[in-house]
Amino acid sequence: MYSIDIDGANTPFPCAENDTVLRAGLRAGLGLPYECNVGSCGNCKFELLDGTVDNLWPQAPGLSDKDRQKNRWLGCQSRARSDLRIKLRTSEHYRAIHSPTVTAAVLTRHTALTHDISEFVFDCERTMAFSSGQYALIQLPGVQGPRAYSMSQKGGASTTMEFQVRRVPEGVGSDVLFGLKTGERVHIDGPYGMAYLREDAERDILLVGGGSGLAPMLSLARGALSTPQLGSRQVHFLYGARQQRDLCGQDLLAQLPEWSKRGHYTAVLSNHPEGEALPEGCQSGFVHDALLARHGPHLSNFEIYFAGPPLMAQAMIKVLVSHKVPMTQVHFDQFY
Ligand SMILES: Cc1cc2nc3c(=O)[nH]c(=O)nc-3n(C[C@H](O)[C@H](O)[C@H](O)COP(=O)(O)OP(=O)(O)OC[C@H]3O[C@@H](n4cnc5c(N)ncnc54)[C@H](O)[C@@H]3O)c2cc1C
Ligand code: FES
Repeated sequence: MYSIDIDGANTPFPCAENDTVLRAGLRAGLGLPYECNVGSCGNCKFELLDGTVDNLWPQAPGLSDKDRQKNRWLGCQSRARSDLRIKLRTSEHYRAIHSPTVTAAVLTRHTALTHDISEFVFDCERTMAFSSGQYALIQLPGVQGPRAYSMSQKGGASTTMEFQVRRVPEGVGSDVLFGLKTGERVHIDGPYGMAYLREDAERDILLVGGGSGLAPMLSLARGALSTPQLGSRQVHFLYGARQQRDLCGQDLLAQLPEWSKRGHYTAVLSNHPEGEALPEGCQSGFVHDALLARHGPHLSNFEIYFAGPPLMAQAMIKVLVSHKVPMTQVHFDQFY
């Protein structure tokens, strides 16, 4: 066990030998900045003032050559090799609402939802408490570094964890996950993420998912429709997919007891063949354009959550900023 001292903060925290600087800080209840947890966003950078660390992924895209020259490291890819003194700015925004824990888990079910998205259900040795919309890190056998996957069930404390994952062509992690047999073992570390359900928000809810961004939006819909404080809120769900064969989620939402009273689903297809009739209830285009067309003048009236690939997230942010939606009511995860 090592001790990590944040310069000027006077709150040294312990870091187990197999943990990362970021996750040890979050487990200790400190608000260390982060987003993806997998080396891509760069939000977890710190400056190393004293001590030695191992870099778990030296080529991680979240760190530039300039960062390396300035002795900056990624908290999510750094393992302490001595006591450390580091420089970064903590923030209440990042403080964990549920302390992240690691548990062994076995795969109990793998069900195909579309041609390339499947639901995976794991039975965990330890209970994990999380909020709707959060994600966990799955360490898969033989894969270097964990992969981030959002839970698709509603938040709570559970030993069963459900995920919906898209098989990425030539993706190392998703390939192994899709090849796992029931009874095989992984390690799950979580929960993480700030795009969780705000149970005290006094606005209707807009959920926008693109591709594999389905899981956290489904979790949020399930949470919102079963949270008594949100009992009068409408839930608008926009799902962006490429083609008809990529569509999913509507049947799962329709199973929720409150859905018929308060739920609204719109599917948007970005790559629908020209001239072909659209499936019922679908429109063509990009999901951020559909959002604009449907809710443009009223976007500030919603609590807005979204998840999906970085291009979709950037388009969403542009739309929301141009409509002056306060960022305090916008919550999102980019899927790097
Ligand atoms: C917050 C968050 C939530 C997500 N939720 C979902 C979800 O619910 N469903 C879903 O389908 N996808 C989700 N993703 C995307 C998912 O984590 C993977 O990026 C995707 O499945 C592709 O992984 P892969 O291993 O198949 O592809 P690869 O291209 O092999 O790997 C890409 C991912 O692995 C990381 N990585 C690659 N090499 C290394 C290494 N050597 N060491 C450490 N990390 C490495 C990268 O940062 C990147 O995240 C989420 C991503 C994030 C950041
Ligand atoms: S949180 Fe470390 S790079 Fe994204």
